[in-house]
Amino acid sequence: MNSLDRCLEEFHKDAQRVRTLDELNRLKGRYVGRKGVLNDYLKQMKALSPEKRRETGQKINQLKKIMEEEISQLQKVVGQSTKKYGKVDLTLPGNAIPSGSFHPITLILNRIIEIFFSLGFRVEEGPEIETEYYNFEALNFPSEHPARDEQDSFFLPHNYLLRTHTSPVQIRTMEKYPPPLKVVVPGRCYRRDPMDATHSMVFHQVEGLVVAEGISMGHLKGTIELFSRRLFGANRKVRFRPSFFPFTEPSAEVDISCGVCAGEGCRSCGYSGWLEIMGAGLVHPNVFKSAGYNPEAIRGFAFGMGVERIAMLKYGIPDIRLFFENDLYFLSQFRGL
Ligand code: DAH
Repeated sequence: MNSLDRCLEEFHKDAQRVRTLDELNRLKGRYVGRKGVLNDYLKQMKALSPEKRRETGQKINQLKKIMEEEISQLQKVVGQSTKKYGKVDLTLPGNAIPSGSFHPITLILNRIIEIFFSLGFRVEEGPEIETEYYNFEALNFPSEHPARDEQDSFFLPHNYLLRTHTSPVQIRTMEKYPPPLKVVVPGRCYRRDPMDATHSMVFHQVEGLVVAEGISMGHLKGTIELFSRRLFGANRKVRFRPSFFPFTEPSAEVDISCGVCAGEGCRSCGYSGWLEIMGAGLVHPNVFKSAGYNPEAIRGFAFGMGVERIAMLKYGIPDIRLFFENDLYFLSQFRGL
């Protein structure tokens, strides 16, 4: 009887060490299996007196019950941890944590600013809610100019409006600092255009302004050609076309040769071989006057480009609406750029 008690103690000790299903099966075999310890005891009973045999038999059955009970308890615990950890395949690839990426507009804006920064330009910013004075008057817009029409701009009470371009920051910058100046102005602009593949009510511009003695059209051309070569590559040509803006004289529209057909003419460039990238010109004397500069003493050049348009040309994006739809499939293509 003593050895049976010891056997149970041994069992408890062994059971405590069981961690896996394998170990549990071995424990089961060793104690309650066909060739287990309890069966050995049963076999040895033949040698006992009938009375002892009954007593021992009962004891053995009692132990068997206790052991089986404990084994089935252990089975639950070990089974669970096997489900949780035992079948983990450490060689499987992990779950990727989705990483964000910069918006293509941010990417191109950073690149544009980086190029001008390397040429010695500083960055200035101005408000998106502007006065009619800064947005139009100070920039030499006549009062009958179509941009002043309610059809074209978002007007707010008290002569405020959402700025239609970044040019008002030219005036704000000149009011803040004396010449000479060399700034670029990134920012959001608003126009009452119906949305289509090339128009958006919200869009971005980068304005440029250089003011110093003796600035000429040559400085403007050199700067823009350098910028275009850095952004689009040395193989793209730049051309200046005469144009009109109230705040520049002379004014030009700047084109680069089409990257698809190399200037031959194709569907991308409307068969002209050229793509417009910005407006530019020499600062109008009236603009200097509005800002409190002496137009006799200094000259300047200015330019303004649409960031969406530049990004569309650079990345081959066919529709401006893609920038504003938050479509992750579209946006994730710019990861790592
Ligand atoms: N503000 C003009 C526009 O939104 C772009 C522009 C043209 C800016 C010529 C300039 C410039 O600074 O010189 O269409």
